[in-house]
Amino acid sequence: MTPPFKNRPIAGAGLGLRSPHYGDLMAGAADVPWLEVLADNYAHGDGLPLWHLEGIRERYPVVFHGVGLSLGSADPLDSAYLDTILDLARRFEPAWYSEHLAWTASGGRHHHELLPLPFMEETVQTLVDRVGQVQDRLGERMLVENSAAYTAFDASHMTEAEFVGRVLEEADCFLLLDVNNLYVNARNHAFDPLDYLRGLPPHRVAQMHLAGHDDHGHYLVDAHGSAVAEPVWELYAEAARLFPGVPVCVEWDREVPGFEVLVAEMRRAGQAMRFEEPDSGKVTPHAP
Ligand SMILES: [Fe+2]
Repeated sequence: MTPPFKNRPIAGAGLGLRSPHYGDLMAGAADVPWLEVLADNYAHGDGLPLWHLEGIRERYPVVFHGVGLSLGSADPLDSAYLDTILDLARRFEPAWYSEHLAWTASGGRHHHELLPLPFMEETVQTLVDRVGQVQDRLGERMLVENSAAYTAFDASHMTEAEFVGRVLEEADCFLLLDVNNLYVNARNHAFDPLDYLRGLPPHRVAQMHLAGHDDHGHYLVDAHGSAVAEPVWELYAEAARLFPGVPVCVEWDREVPGFEVLVAEMRRAGQAMRFEEPDSGKVTPHAP
């Protein structure tokens, strides 16, 4: 059978697709170069969400993003879940598929939360094995996202940057660098996010995320319910300089604002990305 995935080029700054904006997108209310689709929202049967996605896909390139694979779990890989993602991929031909460096299920129970992992050898090997299984099914390489974490483990014996880099190289996959998650973790766990960025293998960085967080004073929460914070924009500027041309998208999941607000954030991300390429004003299409 034809592999369901064939990674394709995507360029510039895009948006996470959210249902309140279906109408604006179908009306072409702004020039949006691509959309990130949360595949789990379309994974159960037909109906209105898939009808909307059909229309959206006719007009926009999409990438798939998932939250339910539980890559970091010690359980056997959920083959039925992956089958559903692959069926959707055959239908909608996303440019690529990303998931999180986290776990969401254990013993057959789903916790509906991206739970953190200890940064240790056994976890690296678990992830390398499971990413390999997924990529065998995809027939392509996938992207993995650095997750926000609110706890740290005594068992960790490497930094998060070392951990992520090991998984990327040994599993031969790509990174979806969530700049907000990096900033949140750097504040919550007191490390330098610039050291983290400079420690990543540049050839593995294939996409970035921007989102808002809640600031509770002595800790931050990756809440996706507000505009991207200024320190995250500053960190993104450095990431865009280190990883030029890498596509970025803005995520907003709670209290989703009007389309124009998201578009303004998207355009700001696009301007920050192009800062290093003032001559052309264009971003090179990028495929992992
Ligand atoms: Fe993200």
